[in-house]
Amino acid sequence: MCGIVGIVSKDNSNVVCDIINGLEKLEYRGYDSAGLAVIDSTGLRRLRAVGKLENLVNKLKINPIYGTIGIGHTRWATHGKATEENAHPMVTKDVALVHNGIIENYKELKADLSQKGYEFTSQTDSEVVAVYLQMELDNGLRPREAFRKMLQAVRGTYAFLAIFKAQPDIIFCARNKSPIAVGFGKYMSIGSDVGSISANCSEIVYMDDGDYAEVTKDGAKFFDNGFSTIDKPRVAVTDDLVNLGKGEYSHYMIKEIMEQPSAIRKTLLGNEVPKEFFDKISRILILACGTSYHAGLVGKYWFEKYLKLPTHVEIASEYRYRSPVIEDNTLVLVITQSGETIDTLEAMEYVRKNNNTCCLAAISNVLNSAISRSADFVFHTEAGVEVGVASTKAFTAQLTVLAKLAFCKNPELLNQLQNLPMACESSLLLKEDIDKLSCRIKDCANAIYLGRDNLYPIALEGALKLKEVSYIHAEGFAAGEMKHGPIALIDDVVPVICLCPSGSMFDKMFSNIQVAQARGKNIIVFTDSMGGKSFDESVEKIVLPSINQELCPILYSIPLQLLAYTVTVLKGEDVDKPRNLAKSVTVE
Ligand code: AGP
Repeated sequence: MCGIVGIVSKDNSNVVCDIINGLEKLEYRGYDSAGLAVIDSTGLRRLRAVGKLENLVNKLKINPIYGTIGIGHTRWATHGKATEENAHPMVTKDVALVHNGIIENYKELKADLSQKGYEFTSQTDSEVVAVYLQMELDNGLRPREAFRKMLQAVRGTYAFLAIFKAQPDIIFCARNKSPIAVGFGKYMSIGSDVGSISANCSEIVYMDDGDYAEVTKDGAKFFDNGFSTIDKPRVAVTDDLVNLGKGEYSHYMIKEIMEQPSAIRKTLLGNEVPKEFFDKISRILILACGTSYHAGLVGKYWFEKYLKLPTHVEIASEYRYRSPVIEDNTLVLVITQSGETIDTLEAMEYVRKNNNTCCLAAISNVLNSAISRSADFVFHTEAGVEVGVASTKAFTAQLTVLAKLAFCKNPELLNQLQNLPMACESSLLLKEDIDKLSCRIKDCANAIYLGRDNLYPIALEGALKLKEVSYIHAEGFAAGEMKHGPIALIDDVVPVICLCPSGSMFDKMFSNIQVAQARGKNIIVFTDSMGGKSFDESVEKIVLPSINQELCPILYSIPLQLLAYTVTVLKGEDVDKPRNLAKSVTVE
């Protein structure tokens, strides 16, 4: 939810630029404010700015600061508004701290510190941790002892980086549920993800929950939650871990939409399903959030139809609070792009604690993420780093893995999957038609998406894509459900976006569209050449390549992504960093 970076230079060079470069790669995690702190000859220096990182950069141009050790932060506000006072780093007389996560006992800690005469300048939970460290220093502890004492006092989720005036050569860091990677290379670096530090390091250590580390210019020492020294394996940094920038594209979202044929191709190449994978499975439970949840809904259609396995799809943030019944021999499939979504991680841990007969498998886009490392089995969506907050290529790669799993006993359908990359290439060529269509939608206040059967989840996903980047209120419905109430929403203005490929549901969907047409004037239909013949010119048609109807959820997602992208760009909104959002939601 927030991004953190720490750097210790090896040759006493200034670390400020490298901290900014790292924060640039982390802005997708939150952009309500940004800040950094360094230690220089005069002590602790800090600079913060509200809003996007460029505001901090502009401030630095006016008041440059220098230091050979420093920490930085991009914020997604949880406690306290997006103001400069609430921007990290939190600083006291002798300590600077950045934090990603939520401190659950901050109120009691704050009350105790206030009673001891300590004052606070922000509404954040994170500042309580900085002041707690200051109190321990005031009690005569050295930085290491103060940091360790703090770890025993706080409860909640965190990735902490702390620097102390009295110890200007060490960055102290600790992880519980919020990711931290430590980079070894040109200099020592620490970041919320590999992308933020990979430009200058050749090897990475992923810290685990309960780990804490002391990072100096010569390397890093790791300790477990009992403060015993531990060894951590190093992973080589490879290209697929590095965010390679936007290239010739104007935004990450359009770059990632365009990368889908290759992401699907690569995902098809990997992810062989072990023959015995479903042998002892009597049902499937899918846990996920947002777009990944929509992928799970499509998976349900496929699993029940082709594997005859009862499949339940649950919103992860709801699941563990409703005292669910977990039946033996359930395959729990956790779907996630980031591998760090705490709602999904906690739901997964709930299953693990309450039934040890379940197989916990993850479909994840980040191999060394918390969820991937916790799973018994991982299917990797080979989509590459996805930076745009709106998930696109990871989504179709998730569907590709789900299809490989569901069709594993159906060679004919498995073979059909090979046609997907080519069909997706062709659907990307529709961008010009979609651009024209977007002009009809960009000024609308609302939009309706309709789909049936395995395209109902894609109607939900299309609506989520549009609302989360363009801020137009969009809602997806099962087309057959319209007559039970939502049809009251149709008027001459609201765009009704219908997914209607030829196939077994065509006639039903066609009649649902006619009912909409009788009440509205802004009907848009995504279909194929066969289906297109049935529609007259009163509807706006976008004709996609014909493909096996089972694969339509993957193919029909692409034009809806393009639509959301183009509408947003036409509206002049920030398509890669939509307001209020963050790429990976690591707080509940
Ligand atoms: C995707 O467009 C959304 N930004 C969001 O719903 C996302 O899918 C959700 O937060 C789950 O994230 P995950 O896949 O990384 O777990």
